[in-house]
Amino acid sequence: MAEDLTLIQDGTKEEKYESLIPQIRGLMYGETNLIANLANIAAALKESLGFFWVGFYLVDKEDELVLGPFQGPVACTRIKKGKGVCGSSWQRDQTLIVPNVDEFPGHIACASASKSEIVLPIKKDGKIIGVLDVDSDQLNDFDETDQRYLQQILDLLP
Ligand code: SME
Repeated sequence: MAEDLTLIQDGTKEEKYESLIPQIRGLMYGETNLIANLANIAAALKESLGFFWVGFYLVDKEDELVLGPFQGPVACTRIKKGKGVCGSSWQRDQTLIVPNVDEFPGHIACASASKSEIVLPIKKDGKIIGVLDVDSDQLNDFDETDQRYLQQILDLLP
């Protein structure tokens, strides 16, 4: 079965997310493996929205995240709880939108081209199991629209 995404080239961000979400639902249909589903979400978001870096960090130890499925340039493998945007999102149990990464105290620069970032915690049975991290090479590229749709995508995870 072909797994090509139908992409909207010239639409708004909302239209791209609206088109993508049912396709992600389809890609995950009947699949409960977390890594497989995260890998396809990362690829689908990167391909359709054109972000610089899309990926997951997963809780590996009590106080550490480890790099999970991602699309984009190579990235740092481990992030301590409370460190960087990812570790802070985990510690605060909160989505963080960072318009300018240079102004976020303790931001971890995996790539100098990254200018803005959004990180959402991923919960399973009320517990945070990881975070979704999306980076842009444009300043101020994320807002509540991204937060709303990215959260909808995470809510599709079985
Ligand atoms: N910038 C992140 C680190 C991960 S990379 O962006 C892929 C942070 O500050 O947590």
